[in-house]
Amino acid sequence: MKRYIITGLILLLIMAGVTLLHPARPQYESTDNTEDSYEYYYNENKEDEEDSLLPEDLNSILADNPTVPLDLIPSSITVLVNRLYPLPSNYIPSSLVVPDVKFNFAYLSDKRKMRKVAADALERLFEAGEKKGIELYGVSGYRSYARQKEIYDRNIASRGQSATDAVSAKPGSSEHQTGLTIDVSARSVNFRLDQSFGDTKEGKWLAQNAHLYGFIIRYPYGKSAITGYSYEPWHIRFVGKTVATYLYESKLTLEEYYGVEAAADEPDNAVDVEDPDTVKYATPKPTKKPTPAPKPETTKKPASTKKPKQTRKPKPEKTKTPGKATAKPAVKTPKPVQEEKPPEPTPAPPAPTVPPAATPVPEEPKNNGDSPSDVGGPNRKEEHS
Ligand code: DAL
Ligand code: ZN
Repeated sequence: MKRYIITGLILLLIMAGVTLLHPARPQYESTDNTEDSYEYYYNENKEDEEDSLLPEDLNSILADNPTVPLDLIPSSITVLVNRLYPLPSNYIPSSLVVPDVKFNFAYLSDKRKMRKVAADALERLFEAGEKKGIELYGVSGYRSYARQKEIYDRNIASRGQSATDAVSAKPGSSEHQTGLTIDVSARSVNFRLDQSFGDTKEGKWLAQNAHLYGFIIRYPYGKSAITGYSYEPWHIRFVGKTVATYLYESKLTLEEYYGVEAAADEPDNAVDVEDPDTVKYATPKPTKKPTPAPKPETTKKPASTKKPKQTRKPKPEKTKTPGKATAKPAVKTPKPVQEEKPPEPTPAPPAPTVPPAATPVPEEPKNNGDSPSDVGGPNRKEEHS
């Protein structure tokens, strides 16, 4: 009998030791100042889960840190992609699907596709818009590295380096390669992707409601010194509802959220100004005081975080070592810029007839709508974006 009791006690001790060594849910630990100390909040195995960062995670992180640990996992829905943090050229997202929404073209193309999690959210977003009389159209979704290279190279050839870099990402640094991004537009601006879309009722509705479905306007007005791109009211990026709502309410970009340095020097010709009155198409000044960023109250450590490895290293040059979350987001405060008034947009040609997004649809033509010569006048900024 005594022997059984002793054996039982030994077994209990062994089990307790195993549990201590391998806790079921790793706890968030404060990071030190080394790159390897980064921790991410994502679902390694559940790529399609709608929101990889749970609200309680975000609250807990922000209770102890002013910014969030940088996420550079290509398949994470909160991954940061910009000039300083490009994707691997061979990264292709899994689960690309065609969302059941209207597009401004009728042929089959990869640019209809998005990652399933983002495609589902896009359907809900467009459906919500329709209920309010807002008709949005998909224009350009997923792009492979090779496709982005074609677009970028064509833009360089036709517009030059500087104008291209204001709106078009170098291959590898476009969020379109994540499958989480889509450019959207409206019939009222002839499906163009230019800043006039931000002034349409569709563009305004999108800016005010995208976060409710997990999307952010990735290159917002007045933030080009931080994002490195001109204001792009048409380019929406899925990050999940928690982060999208937080960014919308606190008026932050992804770069500011992660406390990383500006994505690049502001392009010389960025048509983005601090004073909206100087530009006809600029977003009107808010009349209301902006809501301060919500300061989460909870101090408990997140319960459901993982400690994955960093798979991408930022380019060393121009990158501030983004160690522990800094006291303030390490972003450049955009200087007020008095830019020249941009040229009036060329009157749009008649809107093309857009067939319903019913299948089957024809194959993609050779010139598939990414070319400046396809739609719109010379001022048009579509797809190069
Ligand atoms: N318009 C954005 C920057 C892109 O090309 O991905
Ligand atoms: Zn875009």
